[in-house]
Amino acid sequence: MKHRLQFFAFLTLTVMLFATSCQKNETLSGPLPKVHIIATGGTIAGASTDIGYDAGKVSIETILQAVPELKQYAELDYEQFCNIGSQDMNDSIWLSLAKRVNQVLESGKYDAILITHGTDVMEETAFFLNLTIHDPKPVILVGAMRPADAEDADGPYNLLTAVKAIVRPEAVGREVMCCLGGKIYEAGAAFKNDTHSIDALSATSVDWYLPHNANTGFYTDNLEELPEVGIVYCYGSNSTVALEAFINAGYKGIVLAGVGDGNLNQETLDLAAQAVKNGVMIVRSSRIPFGGVYTEGGEVDDEKLGFIASGSLSPQKSRILLMLALTVTQDIDTIRSYFQNGVYR
Ligand code: SIN
Repeated sequence: MKHRLQFFAFLTLTVMLFATSCQKNETLSGPLPKVHIIATGGTIAGASTDIGYDAGKVSIETILQAVPELKQYAELDYEQFCNIGSQDMNDSIWLSLAKRVNQVLESGKYDAILITHGTDVMEETAFFLNLTIHDPKPVILVGAMRPADAEDADGPYNLLTAVKAIVRPEAVGREVMCCLGGKIYEAGAAFKNDTHSIDALSATSVDWYLPHNANTGFYTDNLEELPEVGIVYCYGSNSTVALEAFINAGYKGIVLAGVGDGNLNQETLDLAAQAVKNGVMIVRSSRIPFGGVYTEGGEVDDEKLGFIASGSLSPQKSRILLMLALTVTQDIDTIRSYFQNGVYR
């Protein structure tokens, strides 16, 4: 536990120093770095409506016109990859996006990639890309909590913060980053913890740190789809209906967002253990964002029941790691090692 907390402190400090140094970098000398922008939508591309706003409506061209200062820091070009609220992100778009990011980086024409994205599932896209991009050049996702046409829109400031960050040498060889509220978080730790604040992202403690050029062995080039993995959210008086539905639908993996330390009521535990015997990979995670779920010192005998403890990964990040793991192996010990130690080959 101690080393985890120490690592969290180190990571938080690194992120803070990195963000601070970005604030100080007001000018650059020499030719401007080239940044390719891939626009996917989100509130940063939102347009106001009678009841609030719709995400993913404004084009990247219009968004960039509102931030002319960006041109002082980088030579920019852009593509409108899609224009959706991130609630509509899915495995198929993630696969296409990872292929596109790898393709752009492999072209050798750019120094960094910036992806505009909704904040709702930003941490999932960042984590997916972190495991599937194989180049050390900086990749950052940028969001906003207020639509593009709001008087006090936060997208322009976040875009400026992100561009200033990724053109710095310290940005190379890190995890995929997320930018919101003028701050930068890395993919492993980032999570959304506020439904409305413009500072809606936070960092949780993480067990392992994985720069996106680490050799994860997860390649998207030849993948057309990902194995189906679902998440079951647990609660007091938990029903097994959702778990049964995933099992009956033939899902290859299920992540249990257990209570507390990944605990499960008896019916859920028995049904999950039976599913393991029938070949379903079960990850035991927690609905609590801090502290993680570990086999040692808890109430559930993962070894005996054939479960995988999620470590510090949230249910939604566990789902992503399990999907990618199942594209390369069915071996539970190998998958357990990914969750415990990170995915290095
Ligand atoms: C979304 O995630 O697309 C909507 C919410 C947001 O961007 O903050």
